[in-house]
Amino acid sequence: MNAPVIAVDGPTASGKGTVATLVAKALGWHMLDSGAIYRLLALAADEAGVALEDEAGLTRLADKLDVRFGEESVFLAEREVSFDLRQEATGLAASKLAVLKEVRAALLARQRAFRMPPGLVADGRDMGAVVFPDAPLKIFLTASVESRAQRRYKQLIEKGLPANLANLLQDLRERDARDMQRAIAPLKPCEDSILLDTTTLSIDEAVTFVLHEAQARKLQ
Ligand code: DC
Repeated sequence: MNAPVIAVDGPTASGKGTVATLVAKALGWHMLDSGAIYRLLALAADEAGVALEDEAGLTRLADKLDVRFGEESVFLAEREVSFDLRQEATGLAASKLAVLKEVRAALLARQRAFRMPPGLVADGRDMGAVVFPDAPLKIFLTASVESRAQRRYKQLIEKGLPANLANLLQDLRERDARDMQRAIAPLKPCEDSILLDTTTLSIDEAVTFVLHEAQARKLQ
């Protein structure tokens, strides 16, 4: 039998990464940050000089993408890319190449390989709809675009990265629109996902909610 999956989908800066990581820790499960895979491909494309619209070139890159996730760091071939990975420009580039059908298909098996006992918490846009449609628990995290921009701003400043609130708000709106309107695997709640609006929730409250739902399904 396949290991159980908790799918945590939602827009940029909805808190899904933080919530998914804490839920995985609490359960002692594996964690998949699927956005990081799209971001890594964006970095690899930049390095190889492949355009973000070049579907065939990006698909070839995706097939041979050499990535390694360490405890605290991420490697693209031999290069440590943890810093570049989190840049807003990388997220924006990832959102552009993520509209391409063949690129998404090429990254599918790589994402599914993270499903291992005792279980997996997977965060992204299409974890519940496409990558793990049989996940016994699917959460769709949302929050107002203004509160997401505020959170992202705080995160960047805390990390010592440059940030501008007005630009962030505009970038988030642009990425939301692209992620939600694309033809392939658009960002939207599944029929069987549970909606969780975190605009006025603390991280702890959101984590407790997910753990409670996991318990109700006898996943822990
Ligand atoms: O979650 P994130 O911001 O790291 O994701 C970066 C981009 O990658 C996001 O704007 C769209 C794309 N993405 C996707 O299309 N499907 C996923 N499962 C995860 C990310």
